[in-house]
Amino acid sequence: MEHIPVLLNECLDGLQVRPDGVYLDCTCGLGGHTGAIASQLTTGFVISNDRDEESLAKAKENTAAYADRIRFHHGRFSELPKALSENGVKAVDGVLADLGVSRYQLTTADRGFSFMADGPLDMRMSRSQETTAADIVNFSSPLELGQLIATLGEERRWWRRIAEAIVRGRPVHTTGQLATLIERAVPRTSRLHPATQTFQALRLAVNREPEELDALLEWLPSAVKPAGGRAAVISFMSLDDRKVKVRFQSLAKAGEVTLINKKVIVPGDEEIRNNPASRSAKLRVFEKL
Ligand SMILES: C[S@@+](CC[C@H](N)C(=O)[O-])C[C@H]1O[C@@H](n2cnc3c(N)ncnc32)[C@H](O)[C@@H]1O
Repeated sequence: MEHIPVLLNECLDGLQVRPDGVYLDCTCGLGGHTGAIASQLTTGFVISNDRDEESLAKAKENTAAYADRIRFHHGRFSELPKALSENGVKAVDGVLADLGVSRYQLTTADRGFSFMADGPLDMRMSRSQETTAADIVNFSSPLELGQLIATLGEERRWWRRIAEAIVRGRPVHTTGQLATLIERAVPRTSRLHPATQTFQALRLAVNREPEELDALLEWLPSAVKPAGGRAAVISFMSLDDRKVKVRFQSLAKAGEVTLINKKVIVPGDEEIRNNPASRSAKLRVFEKL
């Protein structure tokens, strides 16, 4: 599958990659950003992390040309301190996080992330996690399910009706089955498929994404070197970007970092034309003082 890394030049500029620097890519995915960073290194290296074993295996193939400059690590954001210590590193010159799911994960039917491709209702970014989306859908109370859809899915209007329809239709085993239940329960009021927000809520819950992002943002300033270390975070959801913005602003206010771009960086028209999936991306960068 062709993979186009989002806001690539903006990330490389933002991180000011130096040939002898040490970098951390928190979200290796298929290795798009990792490969581009590695291509600029000589004596430096990049630690490239992901919680998804299958993505890491593909990234290794995709970045084989730079294998001597990349050290892969399998783990969650909350395990990143270990990724550094295992590589004998205290702090890095630059950290990149490109949040969320990858197109590869979304479009691989048997990973169960999408209603566009029918597959088992799974949604685990790592197969070593226990809880799947099917566990949440089939074993939560109607109220728990509704609250999840309302909060993590930001589905303020139809959450109750969707939760009731799901509970009546249980057991639910596939993404297609879930999408059909929701489609029948609520009217289509916009371009978005009516199941979009419920799928978002389940994905966030299965992978504990809000908690993971909180852990990452808390740790981030200690992960970069003082006097010049940089951190760049790309978000695709407004829930995530809000958290990144608030955290970066509070670090700036406390005098720990300076914000590199006063305004958030977004893709230009040409990037959106070439890669429509980039359209909601927002990049924020800080430099440690
Ligand atoms: C948008 S993709 C990254 C794409 C990558 N930059 C590229 O160019 O190929 C996000 C990746 O982050 C990983 N991810 C999301 N949350 C994570 C977490 N809490 N810990 C570790 N990896 C995570 C996902 O498994 C996914 O592969």
